[in-house]
Amino acid sequence: MIAIDFSFRDWQWQYQISTTFFICVIVPTVYYIHAKYITKYPNNYNRLEEPIKLVVPIPQEAKPHWKGKRLHPPNLSIRIPNEPTKIQSYCPATGQLLGVFSVTSKEEMNQQIINGKRAQLQWKNSSFILRRKVLKTLSRYIIENQEDIARIACRDSGKTKLDASMGEIMVTLEKLNWIISHGERSLRPSQRPGPSNLLIGLMKNGEVRYEPLGVVAALVSWNYPFHNLLGPIIASIFTGNAIIVKCSEQVIWSSKWFVDLIRLVLKSLDIDEDLVQLCCCFPEDADYFTSHPGLSHITFIGSKPVAHKVVESAAKELTPCVVELGGKDSVIVLDDVKNFEALSSVILRGTFQSAGQNCIGIERVICLPKAYEKLVDIFTERLSDFRIGSDIDQLDEIDMGAMISDNRFQNFEELIEDAVSKGAKLIHGGKPYQHPNYPQGHYFEPTLLINVEPHMRIFQEEVFGPILTMIKATDIESAINLSNSTEYGLGNSVFGSNFTQLNNIANQLESGNVAINDFATFYVAQLPFGGIKKSGYGKFGGEEGLTGLCVAKSIVMDKPLLRWLGIATAIPPAIDYPIKDDKKAWRFVRSLNIAGYDNRVWEIIKAFEKLAKS
Ligand SMILES: *[C@@H]1O[C@H](CO)[C@@H](O)[C@H](O)[C@H]1NC(C)=O
Ligand SMILES: *[C@@H]1O[C@H](CO)[C@@H](O)[C@H](O)[C@H]1NC(C)=O
Ligand SMILES: *[C@@H]1O[C@H](CO)[C@@H](O)[C@H](O)[C@H]1NC(C)=O
Ligand SMILES: *[C@@H]1O[C@H](CO)[C@@H](O)[C@H](O)[C@H]1NC(C)=O
Ligand SMILES: *[C@@H]1O[C@H](CO)[C@@H](O)[C@H](O)[C@H]1NC(C)=O
Repeated sequence: MIAIDFSFRDWQWQYQISTTFFICVIVPTVYYIHAKYITKYPNNYNRLEEPIKLVVPIPQEAKPHWKGKRLHPPNLSIRIPNEPTKIQSYCPATGQLLGVFSVTSKEEMNQQIINGKRAQLQWKNSSFILRRKVLKTLSRYIIENQEDIARIACRDSGKTKLDASMGEIMVTLEKLNWIISHGERSLRPSQRPGPSNLLIGLMKNGEVRYEPLGVVAALVSWNYPFHNLLGPIIASIFTGNAIIVKCSEQVIWSSKWFVDLIRLVLKSLDIDEDLVQLCCCFPEDADYFTSHPGLSHITFIGSKPVAHKVVESAAKELTPCVVELGGKDSVIVLDDVKNFEALSSVILRGTFQSAGQNCIGIERVICLPKAYEKLVDIFTERLSDFRIGSDIDQLDEIDMGAMISDNRFQNFEELIEDAVSKGAKLIHGGKPYQHPNYPQGHYFEPTLLINVEPHMRIFQEEVFGPILTMIKATDIESAINLSNSTEYGLGNSVFGSNFTQLNNIANQLESGNVAINDFATFYVAQLPFGGIKKSGYGKFGGEEGLTGLCVAKSIVMDKPLLRWLGIATAIPPAIDYPIKDDKKAWRFVRSLNIAGYDNRVWEIIKAFEKLAKS
């Protein structure tokens, strides 16, 4: 072969090489780049979408080393004595007062819905270019001001800066940028196959168009005051809706600042800022809002008892809800895990991030026997080094922050006591912690509880706190059984070395989301997020999260060829009013059904013959 090649003259040789190179390398590369970056992300480089620069004043309380006054019990509360229409915000890590806010009155709620509707009527016509520009501006602001945003979220929730950087900022940036890249495609009209009937299928096309709902609402939880608030706002802006967010009464101070930030983005782009509004009230006064006829959709993120109230109240107006509640998420660890140290890091983050106040936090670690022994040893050692406190002003190096309030501490202690009385063993923690520098802060010791079993309350009830529970399973089947045997079904992880096996386990888990050899990555990947069983219903996030905030309007029309030929479909004479011959009409439709749906050729031919006759 080489001899033959050398017999080519130089130019032929080069010509052949360059042609081959062009076909095998250049063409696929250009095609790949075009497909990946230009077609798929058509507008990432659009100059019309360039983010604009924002200047946003930072409140005093959000500055580093702020010396705000501390509240003392009994005034360390969001409620103020004799002031039923005021809510007090304070930092749960230090007890510092952040501000006092008036609850939104019923009249104000009515006005918000009117204003939202006005803004939405304009906005529903907006281009995806402008919608992306809003999100890109917000994304750029967040990237450039991570410190301030983290500090604001930390002051109001007591979490650590690191917890905020991952759980608040990174996930919000992911959501923004995922929608910037894929949102428009998710909302494009979806072409459907049309009728399966042979005859009608020849004539009709079907498609689904996604139109905004109007004014939607989100009731969000306090555990991620930035991310949980922004998630529904970003999705509703992009889908052409207006939104009123009811923030948690625990985090009004930061919620107000975050909503004001978004309103500033809108205003700076000449968009009606009432597209995004904030409402706040005590839970007992939320019914008026959730049963308001002006709302087209409600996203609820919170706890099961409150969900019952919200859904009941929304039902008065038949307002659809997406309900995202807690879980009793498990991690299943098989014996063939290669690196238990690395795995223990994942489990610690999944359990103790935000002091365990995560809807998809790890609540149960279910291990096969060998893995159990290894992990118990590792956790026993690693948890003894955990440091608790506040790093909002970067005074201390800490691992875990405060909890939002101390109102569940007694419940934690009861759950632990119940477990220990039934045979569990408490290795670390188990009680509230009084921090020497922040005696008013709401801290609970990071807790390790082993030998946990299904008949203990802590196996079944959601903890939402910094408690790591270890459960031993005899084999894979019983591990799956244990994982399935709670009333919740939100998220799970499975760890091991044999992917086929892990995949099989993932299929058997009663759960809305499963991560294989990782924790919670379904969330970061912007997959549709939501649970089953008592963890709620409906999905937010990803494509389903966007289309879920739309009317899926079904449109049927004549095929383009018919329209082009000017042929309109009509009622055949045999079945037109007044029916001339009842028997003949019946035979006509009967033949039509055979022609349209029978799969035997001969029957179809006979049916066509009868149709032709009638
Ligand atoms: C603190 O609480 C007490 C008892 O509820 C009340 O009498 C007092 O006025 C409160 N002080 C402040 C500064 O709110
Ligand atoms: C929105 O668009 C429709 C059709 O493109 C148009 O008829 C209507 O006037 C527009 N409405 C506003 C408020 O711009
Ligand atoms: C599954 O768990 C339930 C209760 O948790 C128990 O009654 C049942 O026997 C278990 N089944 C298997 C196959 O382990
Ligand atoms: C992996 O798991 C599958 C299913 O359980 C099993 O059939 C297979 O033999 C396993 N492979 C290895 C290498 O152990
Ligand atoms: C989960 O486990 C339960 C209890 O063993 C079992 O009945 C159920 O079939 C499992 N779920 C799935 C989806 O396999």
